[in-house]
Amino acid sequence: MALQDVLIDELRDMYSAENQLVKALPKLAKGAKDATLKQLFKDHLEETKGQVLRLREVFEHLGKKPTGQHCNGMEGVIEEGADALEKDEEGASFDAGLVGAALRTEHYEIAGYTACIAMAEQLELDDVVELLQANLDEEVAAAEKITDAAQPILEAANEQPEEEDEDEAPKTAKEKTSDRKSKADEKKASADVKKKR
Ligand SMILES: [Fe+2]
Repeated sequence: MALQDVLIDELRDMYSAENQLVKALPKLAKGAKDATLKQLFKDHLEETKGQVLRLREVFEHLGKKPTGQHCNGMEGVIEEGADALEKDEEGASFDAGLVGAALRTEHYEIAGYTACIAMAEQLELDDVVELLQANLDEEVAAAEKITDAAQPILEAANEQPEEEDEDEAPKTAKEKTSDRKSKADEKKASADVKKKR
C-alpha cells in the first residue's frame, strides 16, 4: 500500500473521530457542573465542527471522499466519557472524571493529527499539512485550556468529604464486565511483567 493510501485511511479515521465528537461534546457540556468547563466544551464543539469542514477540504485536495472508515478508537474513548457521565459522584469530583475523559479525546486526536502531518510532509502535500496543522493547533490549545480549567476543579474535589459508601465492588452488569476484563488484562500480561522485574 502506498503511503498516500495509508494517509487516506488515517484521515478517514480522523474524519469519523471528529464527527463522533460533534455528537459527544454537547453531552459533556450538558453534564459539566463547572461553568468554565461547560463553556470550554461548548467552544470546542464549535471548533470541532470547523475541523470537520477542514478535513473535507483535505479530502478535496486529495480527490477522495472523506467517509469509508469508522474510528473504533474514538468510539471507545467516547464510551469512557459516557461512563464518566454516568458516575454518581457529586460536583467537582464528577467534573474531575469529565476532565479525564475530555483529555483522553484531545490526546487521541493529537496523536492522530501528528501521524497524519508526518505522512503528508513526507508526501510533500503542503496544503494538506497546513490544514491538518490548524486542526492540531486547536486540539493542543483545547487540551491546555482543559488542563488549566481543571486546577480549581481538582482542588475543590480534593476538599470534598469522602462518600459514606466506600464499597468498591462492581454493581451494574457493565461494571462487572469491566472488572472481569481488567483482571483478565492483568493476568494475560503478568508473566511478561514478571520477567521485567
Ligand atoms: Fe477535534
